[in-house]
Amino acid sequence: MSIYKDPASERAERKIASLSPELRRLAEEGGKIIKNGGLVAFPTETVYGLGADALDPDAVASIYEAKGRPSDNPLILHVSSVEMAERVVEINRRARMLIEAFWPGPLSVVLPAKDIVPLRTRGGLPTAAVRMPDSAPALALIEMSGLPIAAPSANISGRPSPTDAKTVLSDMGDRVPLVIDGGDTRFGVESTVVDVTGEHAVLLRPGGVSKEELEKVLKEEVLLPQDQNIIKRSPGTRYRHYAPSVPLVLCTAESMPAENRRWAWMGIAKPEGTPCASVLFKNKAEYAKELFRALRMLEKSDAEVIYAETPDEAGIGRALKDRLERAAGK
Ligand code: TXA
Ligand code: MG
Repeated sequence: MSIYKDPASERAERKIASLSPELRRLAEEGGKIIKNGGLVAFPTETVYGLGADALDPDAVASIYEAKGRPSDNPLILHVSSVEMAERVVEINRRARMLIEAFWPGPLSVVLPAKDIVPLRTRGGLPTAAVRMPDSAPALALIEMSGLPIAAPSANISGRPSPTDAKTVLSDMGDRVPLVIDGGDTRFGVESTVVDVTGEHAVLLRPGGVSKEELEKVLKEEVLLPQDQNIIKRSPGTRYRHYAPSVPLVLCTAESMPAENRRWAWMGIAKPEGTPCASVLFKNKAEYAKELFRALRMLEKSDAEVIYAETPDEAGIGRALKDRLERAAGK
């Protein structure tokens, strides 16, 4: 007789088994901290997260406090198995299709929350977002704590998200007892958030899994918040995000305005004229991966303004453009 195991959980188990002894020891230590109500910063495939026991309202309160985050902005629950997800949300047909196709991976699914999830974790909403990160240290940390881990990006609220451990330390070093260093993250932009609680699937936040990929698996159109009569938005998208300390202006290499100030450039194309600092990317994937690091780097140059090339919206371009627009304060 064979016991059925869902493919997503099986993939997660294989990932955890591949972890180095050093990272396994850190995940164990982190698991104990989480169980005791403490905070641990950890890598995922998207950005670094600042995690705590999602089921403990006091632990969750300390995340909001450490980040300086508005408390009505709900958190994503990170799980290491589909079984764990089932403890916190009602998984429906669409969610099952998405989970099977994309977990572990950069996709957060909004579903009806079970009562066990404190209102503080879900910002008072009847729903909760769950995701299984595609990162061995993250999965091991969750598994060793035995708990779903609530985790926003590990930056001070409003700042660009951290994609390496050094940036986490500089933002959060004095507020978190353990930062697990798993190197640079692979995607660089946060997970896609999709709501499958209603009649239509709605893309609340574009991310590592594209709208096209979601539609291919669901075999239906995925709506954007503005396509809906009732504006359904990810609560977090109301707030200013990713703001560099120097103004950011979106343009194309051809449409750069005449500029008297010292300006920096980031994009795939080379700009006309001479920037005082610049970051060039090979393609959109690299642009996304390096975006937040580039913002933090260029704000430290002596530029008075940063010009950033607007990418097209295909694939990862939609998420990239979304983060750029929010960093520019749109
Ligand atoms: O890639 C990621 O998702 C990273 C890593 C650490 O996993 N986490 C992350 O968390 O970006 P955060 O807190 O920065 O963003 C969570 C997003 C917010 O836009 C929030 O409003 C939305 O998910 N969200 C969470 N729960 C929700 C719910 N029940 N309904 C609608 N949106 C929700
Ligand atoms: Mg964030």
